[in-house]
Amino acid sequence: MKKAFVIVTTFGFLIFMLSSIVVAEEGDPQYIGSAKCKVCHKAEKRGEQYTKWEAGPHSKAYEVLASEEALAAAKGMGIDNPQTSDECLKCHVTAFSVEADLKAESFDRTEGVGCEACHGPGSEYKSLKVMKNREAALAAGMIIPNEETCMGCHNEESPTYKEFNFEEFWKKIAHPIPEEAEEEQDK
Ligand code: HEC
Ligand code: HEC
Ligand code: HEC
Ligand code: HEC
Repeated sequence: MKKAFVIVTTFGFLIFMLSSIVVAEEGDPQYIGSAKCKVCHKAEKRGEQYTKWEAGPHSKAYEVLASEEALAAAKGMGIDNPQTSDECLKCHVTAFSVEADLKAESFDRTEGVGCEACHGPGSEYKSLKVMKNREAALAAGMIIPNEETCMGCHNEESPTYKEFNFEEFWKKIAHPIPEEAEEEQDK
């Protein structure tokens, strides 16, 4: 009697575990890479977010790990190649600590700190229909980042840390949708 109970509960638990694993994989949005955002976010009249990102510091965050400065900073920590070291990659690429299953084939970490590092994984919100509806986009995993998002990386754990001032730093990478474009959108 007791044994049967143990078997039934063990099976029940196993089935529960398996079903929750499957659900997690199906429902969770994937990281697709900044190149997927480019089609819709490069037009000048809509604020050319992609172009601004590409010209800014975050698109070079992986590349910069191969610089002389990076090698020097790493040496003191006993790291030979910063581009393969967890100690550096955790802040220099998108979604470093995210499991491989949640990264689509189009995702490439050499993009550095991409759109999705701040805005969340895009597979479920990237369609025009969802994007045009803020509530739907938020429900599909889109994040409206704030100062706290930045401080996940801009903190004293960075070996080259520069005092982080949100106002000042944000100005350098801001990529707003121009007001005229927003009005057009509302029509
Ligand atoms: C099919 C076209 C399309 C793609 C692909 C796309 N977007 Fe959008 N996105 C839009 C449109 C349209 C809007 C509405 C605002 C506008 O008119 O520019 C928008 C709005 C946004 C907003 C502002 C949301 C708000 O409510 O403030 C963010 C952030 C955003 N997109 C990020 C991304 C990111 C990151 C990607 C890639 C993972 C992406 N988008 C891919 C079309 C797209
Ligand atoms: C906690 C997050 C974090 C970690 C860990 C980190 N970095 Fe960075 N790194 C940053 C940020 C943020 C910046 C931008 C400026 C700043 O505050 O240093 C940066 C900038 C840099 C720069 C450019 C400096 C400049 O003046 O433009 C280099 C080079 C660099 N990091 C190398 C490394 C190396 C090598 C490692 C690993 C040993 C590493 N980083 C680990 C967050 C991090
Ligand atoms: C995933 C980690 C990460 C996040 C989140 C992040 N950054 Fe960065 N940021 C970096 C790294 C790494 C660099 C250095 C890149 C380089 O030098 O090529 C950097 C560089 C910068 C720079 C250039 C600094 C300089 O020395 O000129 C600015 C400005 C900046 N970030 C602003 C922001 C703001 C504002 C936010 C939040 C909205 C933010 N960052 C969020 C990792 C991050
Ligand atoms: C370092 C973090 C960071 C990165 C990288 C980043 N963004 Fe943003 N983005 C922000 C922040 C912060 C805001 C302002 C949120 C708010 O309105 O409060 C924003 C706002 C936006 C908006 C809305 C602008 C508006 O006026 O409402 C769009 C669209 C957008 N981002 C698209 C993108 C796209 C596309 C990429 C990649 C090419 C990208 N972002 C990369 C942090 C980032």
